Amino acid sequence: FGLPPIKNEPMRNYEPKSDDRAKLQKAVDEMLAAGPVEVPVIINGEKIKTGKTAKQLNPSNHAQAVCTYHEADAALVQKAIEGSLKAKAAWENMPWNDRAAIFLKAADLLAHKYRYKVMAATMIGQGKNVWQAEIDAAAEACDFFRFGVKYVHDLYSTQPPENSPNTWNRTEYRPLEGFVLAVSPFNFTAIGGNLFAAPALVGNVVVWKPSPMAIYSNYLLLEIFKEAGLPDGVLQFVPGPAEEIVGAAINHREFACLHFTGSTFVFRNLWKQIGNNLDKYRGYPRIVGETGGKNFHLVHKSANVDAAVTQSIRAAFEYQGQKCSALSRLYVPQSMWQGEFKEKLLKQISEITLGPVEEFQHFMGPVIAKHSFDKIMGLIDAAKKEGGQVLCGGTGDDSKGYYVQPTIIETKDPKSVTMVNEIFGPVITVYAYPDNEFEQTCQLIDTTTEYALTGAIFSLDRHALLQASNLLRNASGMMYFNDKCTGAVVGQQPFGGARASGTNDKAGSMAIFYRFVSARTIKETT
Ligand code: SER
Repeated sequence: FGLPPIKNEPMRNYEPKSDDRAKLQKAVDEMLAAGPVEVPVIINGEKIKTGKTAKQLNPSNHAQAVCTYHEADAALVQKAIEGSLKAKAAWENMPWNDRAAIFLKAADLLAHKYRYKVMAATMIGQGKNVWQAEIDAAAEACDFFRFGVKYVHDLYSTQPPENSPNTWNRTEYRPLEGFVLAVSPFNFTAIGGNLFAAPALVGNVVVWKPSPMAIYSNYLLLEIFKEAGLPDGVLQFVPGPAEEIVGAAINHREFACLHFTGSTFVFRNLWKQIGNNLDKYRGYPRIVGETGGKNFHLVHKSANVDAAVTQSIRAAFEYQGQKCSALSRLYVPQSMWQGEFKEKLLKQISEITLGPVEEFQHFMGPVIAKHSFDKIMGLIDAAKKEGGQVLCGGTGDDSKGYYVQPTIIETKDPKSVTMVNEIFGPVITVYAYPDNEFEQTCQLIDTTTEYALTGAIFSLDRHALLQASNLLRNASGMMYFNDKCTGAVVGQQPFGGARASGTNDKAGSMAIFYRFVSARTIKETT
């Protein structure tokens, strides 16, 4: 069938006194005034209140709960799997254009009817400022659903190019046998959406364990899909204790795929458990994961300093560095660093304000939770003990919300603790490299960490740019030339990393959909 034009969702700017700002402000104010909402487990469309509850807190003000949610357990996961398998036949047999229409409709509902509500839930619940909420919960989520339809349309049209006389060859893209388990992180509402939407688009049924720190925004997405016509049972919503929920799912014979975004540690453990369970399963489960990062900016002596400074600040401190793509390691030639780079960097950082996201005026908000705050502060302390020099920040205040000041650590040791370990917070470690060691610095970047997610090179010398890009060929799945290493746009920059950063299946591209289908080749003699 013909597709409607698929374009990136236009961004709104929320300037003070604008209509969009007023509507979003109202949604935020109402959400704060209403107090915590109650979020049930959803199985087969039924709202289940288990009575075993937990709270999602507002990281800007942790005395306040965003929602009280009911937790599922292993028995409910079992029920969810059984229900999803019952819903499967009708879902996978639904004509593709009807199935696609549900995702296009959901995107429209999100863009036009529920935008401010989902953004407000993302702001208050996940500590995103207005702009970060717009690019995530509004734009990227819509883009995943709409471009997903385009990519699946393209996939289904991908057919063997040749037929011998009297034969007709074709490929049928069947959904996986069994169910998909989606395990999503707190930091992008859109990622939660894509973790269930991508497999569901090609006819899979999905059991979804959302992050405890993103329950409310994720639940709103589920409600939007229900309104858009997603049949009951296709998507089961089972928040709760990770080990119990995920364990029950991956112990099931019909477990067919893990679609995961989260920490490298958890992903590796799950992979091992799945490996140990192989004899239990009907088939070989697909494992699709996007995990940690330790991302770099490499500045060449020819770079535009202002651009490299500004983009480094944006890449490291937007959303408080809590993007798997966030900048963490910055490499600058010594003479440039001592010349103007350091001064410009510190001056711009001194102008950053930090505060509750609902005040609508701060570049930075809180980090997500107490455990993140403690981990970040602990790593800053470890860097200091190793002789790292804290040039700004290095302090935090968790008395009301979880606030960490934007921090720059200068190190003389390019393999120091904060150069190697993922921090997931607003910290850049800078290594000023000898001016004549550009090539060696590329090798250093490549071998410093186990991750390979994003990186950027700033250079106006095209030869140096391409040389570094080549030397860093395997150091990241995403490479940016003269731009920050965050902010991949669905439909424009397919996203993913390799090595310890994930299976590099490229979310936001046609490639990832191959992972959620099990193709059948048909040869017909005519
Ligand atoms: N896609 C996001 C980015 O590129 C991270 O998940 O920043």
